[in-house]
Amino acid sequence: MSRPRLLSGMQPTHDSLHLGNYLGAQVNWVRMQEDFEAYFCVVDQHALTVGPDPADLRQRTRVTAAQYIAGGVDPQRSAVFVQSHVPEHSQLAWVLNCLAGFGEAARMTQFKDKSAKGGQDAATVGLFTYPMLMAADILLYNTEAVPVGEDQRQHLELTRDLAQRFNARYGDTFVVPRAHIPAETAKVMSLAEPTAKMSKSAENQSGNLMMLDTTKANTKKVKSAVTDTDNDVRWDPEAKPGIANLLRIHSALSGESIEALVERFAGENKYGALKGEVAEQVAVVQAPFKERVDDLLADPAELDAHLARGAERAREVAGATLARVYDAVGFVPLGR
Ligand code: TRP
Repeated sequence: MSRPRLLSGMQPTHDSLHLGNYLGAQVNWVRMQEDFEAYFCVVDQHALTVGPDPADLRQRTRVTAAQYIAGGVDPQRSAVFVQSHVPEHSQLAWVLNCLAGFGEAARMTQFKDKSAKGGQDAATVGLFTYPMLMAADILLYNTEAVPVGEDQRQHLELTRDLAQRFNARYGDTFVVPRAHIPAETAKVMSLAEPTAKMSKSAENQSGNLMMLDTTKANTKKVKSAVTDTDNDVRWDPEAKPGIANLLRIHSALSGESIEALVERFAGENKYGALKGEVAEQVAVVQAPFKERVDDLLADPAELDAHLARGAERAREVAGATLARVYDAVGFVPLGR
């Protein structure tokens, strides 16, 4: 009895997940690995598109894998692997590059944003072909479900278009995947600027709770979270975005409903008490998470062995898909 397949990935571009990544992505992955045959990839080749320092890339690749596992991805049940360990990803990406239209790729908003930031000349060709590599990540595994954030919707649409185009031109080869985008309620906003998402690319990082920071540092950030001056804990995301954010974070971590929290913190001058509890709830999840990551990183040989097993499992599926693709497009098989 085979389960439907799922694939997702994160770029190893940062030293730590923030709470928004954890609640928005990681918790969802862990829940979904029960019902799906899951593949969780650390997409180091995507990270290369912005020219990271080699030592940073190496360290962050291991940290990212360790965070997957510390957050509850079970490497026995799901494949945890590094993209560059599975050469089929770049091999299929080339075929998809030859299927995607230049204009189609040029319309990707993420490419337009990223290339606008550093100026057209600073943008690499890798950044331009990024979405076709992402499509390869997904299509190699006959993936049905792809849990991603809203910002990846357009890349998923392109992946679906490429799968359909390939199937129409060369015969039925790929499963056409669906995006799994978590509901609005999972959104965690910046503590410093509660109308903006907690984001690793935000200019002001003081509003981000980092999963691998000390509990002390995170508690301090929660206690100085921006709120408002009316002193009354109510659910009013429009007028009171800071309080709404604290309530959402508390509820997501503790499982207590927002209504129950509002009732419990009703009355004057309860902001301090609410912040205190939010800081505690963050610590309950974050401290053991950090400890598990530290343990995993303390034994890199063991971590690398997990990744080697993950790559081996991934290659079994990816190799078979690539062989069908190579045959379909007309590449001559290697003789003996
Ligand atoms: N582009 C994704 C992001 O930045 C990361 C990614 C690469 C990915 N390949 C993927 C996500 C395949 C899901 C599936 O978030």
